[in-house]
Amino acid sequence: MDSLLPYLLDWANMLLRWLHLIVGIAWIGSSFYFVWLDNSLTAPKDEKLKSLGVSGELWAVHGGGFYNPQKYLLAPAELPQNLHWFYWESYSTWLSGFALFCIAYLLSPSIMLVDKNVFQMSAPVAILAALGYLVAGWFVYDAICRLFGVGDDADKKVAVSLILYVGIAAWVACHLFAGRAAFLMTGAMIATIMSANVLVWIIPGQRKVIASMKRGESPDPIHGQRGKQRSVHNTYFTLPVLFAMLSNHYSGLYNAPDNWLVLILVMAGGALIRHFFVSRHKQAPSLTALALGVTLIGIAAWKAAPAPVGITSPTATPTLAQVETIINERCVSCHNAQMASKNIRLDGPDRIQSQLPLIHQQVVVTRLMPINNSTAITEEERLKIDLWFKSQ
Ligand code: HEC
Repeated sequence: MDSLLPYLLDWANMLLRWLHLIVGIAWIGSSFYFVWLDNSLTAPKDEKLKSLGVSGELWAVHGGGFYNPQKYLLAPAELPQNLHWFYWESYSTWLSGFALFCIAYLLSPSIMLVDKNVFQMSAPVAILAALGYLVAGWFVYDAICRLFGVGDDADKKVAVSLILYVGIAAWVACHLFAGRAAFLMTGAMIATIMSANVLVWIIPGQRKVIASMKRGESPDPIHGQRGKQRSVHNTYFTLPVLFAMLSNHYSGLYNAPDNWLVLILVMAGGALIRHFFVSRHKQAPSLTALALGVTLIGIAAWKAAPAPVGITSPTATPTLAQVETIINERCVSCHNAQMASKNIRLDGPDRIQSQLPLIHQQVVVTRLMPINNSTAITEEERLKIDLWFKSQ
């Protein structure tokens, strides 16, 4: 029974991750499609279309058929019978992502969220801090959009405030949580904003437009404008969020000394690259945005490069007994008969010997273990494991 729960949780983790990826593709895919469509429309030439209120149209060929989408300025005169809505793509992405976050991080707060070298907090405090970070993220963002989203240059003022805000939020996460969690949570916070934009503004705005049409009134353009503002933000958030979601595979980035700077640089690079694609759809590709985006990511790569390790190197190949001492001290507390994290036990020389490549991978190559270096393994000990591995 003892080992059944971790096993089932591992399955839940895998299934939720799979689902999250699939629905995420559906959401981002349809969002990319509509941004492309909106920016690729041309004014109709046909007088009949113009008189119907069509402001832009496009011809496309795909999968053996010809498609001719048309965009109405505000709305068509009569509401179509069959109207397709897009919201489950977004909601299911958030729901599956949040469930995965609960299993992978909130269930083991002291291992996954807390790194005592970054900030010491108890498990309940860490859970509250993580949830608070997600919730506060939305309220601060929404307040920024409401406060600065009026008057002259509203879009520019909101954009500059949001860039500053995301930068500060990334810094805060990296100074509160273990690196891996900090990167993921910055992404999850922005993704929560994106989904809440759909739930709180975009879809209700569309419902209000339809309700006023049904009453025979002409819809208030504010709903369309606000929906548009929030969807533009969502577009620029996509690439940064996807990087943050993938970052947990790259310990060299989230464990870099100035990890907050690496996170900010790569996310800013992603947003600029997204801008290049949006401008390209409008037939005016901004190569400056592309060059700047690539440069920022280049600077991140330079910032995260590992410093040469200045160890007075132990050249003699260590014995298995020496390696066993290191493993006993640094690993066995989490990998033993009672607690076999990820179903791995490292108690006893035979188990160490037979899992040598795995140990080497985790300790020397990816440096993921010990998690957040909670057992304070030294560089010299990592080097010993490396030498021992190479001698086998
Ligand atoms: C604080 C607890 C803790 C310590 C200390 C620790 N581990 Fe782990 N280990 C874990 C957890 C939790 C996982 C599962 C991680 C995951 O799923 O991302 C894991 C996973 C692993 C894996 C499997 C990785 C995979 O995904 O295939 C290996 C191998 C491993 N640890 C080796 C070690 C070694 C070697 C040490 C000592 C240098 C060590 N661990 C120290 C908690 C710990």
